[in-house]
Amino acid sequence: MLYRQSVNKLRKFLPNLRSLRRFGISILLFLGIVLFSWFVMAQQPVTLNLLLPAPDAPPLQRMIKDFEAENPGIRINIVEGPNATNLVEDLYTSAFILGESPYDLVVMDIIWTPKFAAAGWLLDLSNRISQDELAAFSPNDVEGGRYEGKLYRLPIRSDAGMLYYRKDLLAEAGLQPPETFQDLMAASKTLQKTGKVTWGYLWQGRQYEGAVAMFMEVLEGAGGFWVNPDTLEVGLDRPEALRAIEFLRGTVQEGVAPPGVTTYHEEDTRRFFQNGQAAFLRSWPYVWPLANEETSPIKGKIGIKPMVHAAGQSGAACLGGWGFGISKSSRHPEEAWKAIQYFTSEETQRQFILKEGYLPSRRALFTDPQIVAKYPHYPQILEVVQKAVLRPPIAQYAQASDILQRYLSAALTNRTSPEKAMQSAANETRRLLNAGQAKPSA
Ligand code: GLC
Repeated sequence: MLYRQSVNKLRKFLPNLRSLRRFGISILLFLGIVLFSWFVMAQQPVTLNLLLPAPDAPPLQRMIKDFEAENPGIRINIVEGPNATNLVEDLYTSAFILGESPYDLVVMDIIWTPKFAAAGWLLDLSNRISQDELAAFSPNDVEGGRYEGKLYRLPIRSDAGMLYYRKDLLAEAGLQPPETFQDLMAASKTLQKTGKVTWGYLWQGRQYEGAVAMFMEVLEGAGGFWVNPDTLEVGLDRPEALRAIEFLRGTVQEGVAPPGVTTYHEEDTRRFFQNGQAAFLRSWPYVWPLANEETSPIKGKIGIKPMVHAAGQSGAACLGGWGFGISKSSRHPEEAWKAIQYFTSEETQRQFILKEGYLPSRRALFTDPQIVAKYPHYPQILEVVQKAVLRPPIAQYAQASDILQRYLSAALTNRTSPEKAMQSAANETRRLLNAGQAKPSA
């Protein structure tokens, strides 16, 4: 009797047991699928996106190839932007303003840091790198990556504007490389008269950031200043600024620079110079290896020196350069930092500089035997870089630059008198700095 009762109970329970087992199997299957997908996902490389000016893509791509070979779990995807730095900055800005930026790495011109950092778009990198490690970089380049004492950008390469000259033509004419604005005008005219070059001096006059960098050098070389970063005083309507504009306008009026110079950017001027059509050029160090490549008509015929200046003043260089930051919205900050460490490491930079001819951001590389063997002028350039002047490191830099670009272009193309243009530029800049209660970034 008891036995029968137990068997009956068991019979009732059995279907429950079966469904329990089925339930268990489904759970296991589900967990298996989850685990498998997680495993597959974990095997997928993480992709880091970045945006940069198109001409900088091929050199970076070469470094990326090596990085990816060493780090199979990370892929880097380059989005090529326009050539002009200010247009690339606009693209980053719109991406950040729209919300989640699609970019993990932010490839930054030295002038963007205050704005991007003040807007809260970048990760603070201060605790990721020690003071000792930072000390290996040029202090100016590091400074350009700080905002209110925190570090947001690590420099990968430096830049400084300088004067290129045709040493062959100067030697033939028995002339020394020019020191002052007047020397440059006189030497240009002499060399133009020989018929060996059509133009004397080329500079970047298009309405864009490059013209601002160029103008800063002429302005400082005339003894003037744009915005004093400590006091935020604006110097654009002072007589030195007018002298600077006078020099630039004079180059066109006296036929030393082509009339089209007010529409040229770096690459236009480099091509003219490299084709042998001009005696002097103001540009960045990237020109050197290109002008000296096998097929270049001016290979081995150029010299490089600090910019010319007004008599009694000294030559000034505008500090340029590029570095990496990490977007605050990036979902892969660790991988992004790994890439930054790789790109800024001494060995990667040595290879990068040897191949591409940019200026290193690490001081020791300027005198590195391998680098000096290829670029004997680097130790001399280090001095120029160390004295190079930062464009005002203020959060409103983009607007300040835009004001200067507009009025400078108006003055250079004779649309407005230099006095009126610089008066308006100075007033607008003052209003901008007062409205934003700008404070220096230090
Ligand atoms: C170079 C400089 C950069 C500057 C730009 C202007 O790329 O490195 O700092 O803003 O030229 O065209």
